[in-house]
Amino acid sequence: SNVLLLNGPNLGILGQREPEIYGTDTLADIERAIAEEVASRGWRVIARQHDCEGALVGAIHSNYDTVGAIVNPGALMIAGWSLRDALANYPRPWLEVHLSNVWARESFRHESVLAPLASGVIVGLGALGYRLAARALVATVT
Ligand code: DQA
Repeated sequence: SNVLLLNGPNLGILGQREPEIYGTDTLADIERAIAEEVASRGWRVIARQHDCEGALVGAIHSNYDTVGAIVNPGALMIAGWSLRDALANYPRPWLEVHLSNVWARESFRHESVLAPLASGVIVGLGALGYRLAARALVATVT
């Protein structure tokens, strides 16, 4: 079985992107951390990062057979309606993760159109947030 890790726009350059806000871990580091966490259940990680919303939608359609998903939508949290609709039809539990504490930042980041559909949301814990999301799937997915 596989876990889907979905990262939205501007997250492919993690490590170099405003490190004072997003930390120095790369997406490859994060993928490894998640793989480590889910190995206890024999799961593997399917990792997809896209800067375009449509590609993220496609990645969801292609991965309905995963056991669950971890999604950092980046700025698509604000108005990613087609991503939201794709996640509404995703048949498994999924968690929304934001590296930064979006509540402590500009007000345009205070609302997520996706979060009401998520099983849970983790914000502000940096790369650790992804690890904890993986742990949550390990603990709760049946
Ligand atoms: C982010 C927060 C978003 O507001 C921002 O647009 C991002 C990254 C985070 O992980 O903290 O691209 O999702």
